[in-house]
Amino acid sequence: MEGLFITFEGGEGAGKTTVVQQLAQLLQQEGHDVLITREPGGIRIAEQIRNIILHPGHTEMDARTEALLYAAARRQHLVEKILPALNAGKIVLCDRFIDSSLAYQGHARGIGIDEVLTINHFATGGMMPDVTLFLDVAPEIGLKRIYENNEREKNRLDLETRQFHEKVYEGYKQVLKRFPERIKRVDATLPFSRVLDDVFSIVQHYVNEKR
Ligand code: TYD
Repeated sequence: MEGLFITFEGGEGAGKTTVVQQLAQLLQQEGHDVLITREPGGIRIAEQIRNIILHPGHTEMDARTEALLYAAARRQHLVEKILPALNAGKIVLCDRFIDSSLAYQGHARGIGIDEVLTINHFATGGMMPDVTLFLDVAPEIGLKRIYENNEREKNRLDLETRQFHEKVYEGYKQVLKRFPERIKRVDATLPFSRVLDDVFSIVQHYVNEKR
């Protein structure tokens, strides 16, 4: 069996990381071989790119520079880690991928979703996830969750204004309209067990289809 490539998207505090971890356990219990990853995925070249992007001191970074760096890190992560796992038949769960760039750089930074999609297609060779789960939480709720969790380290993008995060949310809504087949929306304001159930049943559908 060829693998299955599943990505998770959402604004800050949507709970992606916890959902990904718990989902992986459920899939493993069913006997699936699962790879959990997140951009930049522990790939050393991509990690270095990421340090440049998220460094709180790099306030002069141009929006297109930022978009190109994310795309470059994505390329390396895809080639070194995601594609080999898919070729080995694994289910790959990736915390953020191309749609983050479309929402954050394309819409929130104002470059344009089309332009950012173009450079990302160059980076990925046109490869898209099999399915994407959008964990939907309005920014006011997501940001509140982050600030209540003081142990979480705050990076350059966390420190953006509230207005920026509102734009990210708007961006995701546009991206959803653009890829209605691929992206599934899950209400992430519901209790966690319910969110996980919803995600699991969507994923099971794709797993069964691949069989
Ligand atoms: P991270 O600490 O991974 O945040 P989170 O836990 O919310 O995923 O930081 C990633 C930040 O980078 C986050 O603010 C979203 C942003 N980002 C982009 O702007 N474009 C991208 O393509 C990706 C992958 C992330």
